Amino acid sequence: MERVDAIWRHPVYQEQLTRIEELEQDRTFCRHGAPHLLDVARVMWIGVLEEGLADELPRDVVYATALLHDIGRAAQYDMEEPHDIAGVRIAREIMGTVEDGCAFSPAEQELIVDAIGAHRGGAKAATTLARLLYRADKLSRPCFACAARPECNWPEEKQNHAICV
Ligand SMILES: [Fe+2]
Repeated sequence: MERVDAIWRHPVYQEQLTRIEELEQDRTFCRHGAPHLLDVARVMWIGVLEEGLADELPRDVVYATALLHDIGRAAQYDMEEPHDIAGVRIAREIMGTVEDGCAFSPAEQELIVDAIGAHRGGAKAATTLARLLYRADKLSRPCFACAARPECNWPEEKQNHAICV
């Protein structure tokens, strides 16, 4: 998965992720650092396998989408820019300036940023990738085991009340 590793190594990606982890170190609610991003990637990939979509959705496209989907979080905290919008902007910058030979195609990049832009549910998840991201982002959260659940701003019906939902 050389193209995914290239995103991970990208200086802008590392700068943003470090900032997110710094800003969230005392956060009681869900965090958006590397553990969450990898959880989402793996749950998305399980969805791909369960639905028999592996020929349609390459694993590195799925992982890149997951790794980039919350990259706008620091901009939301620092500048009050909604993180789905900031995420699209920063993901475009990162994918447009990766190491030689590691770029996703223009069509793949559009698919990825479309999913990032739709992952909060404000925009319609119009593609399979966007639907899988939205679902995995939610499923990745163990609300049933979270001490902050009574104060969480997720509505009761959105929270995961059991391990298998
Ligand atoms: Fe997320």
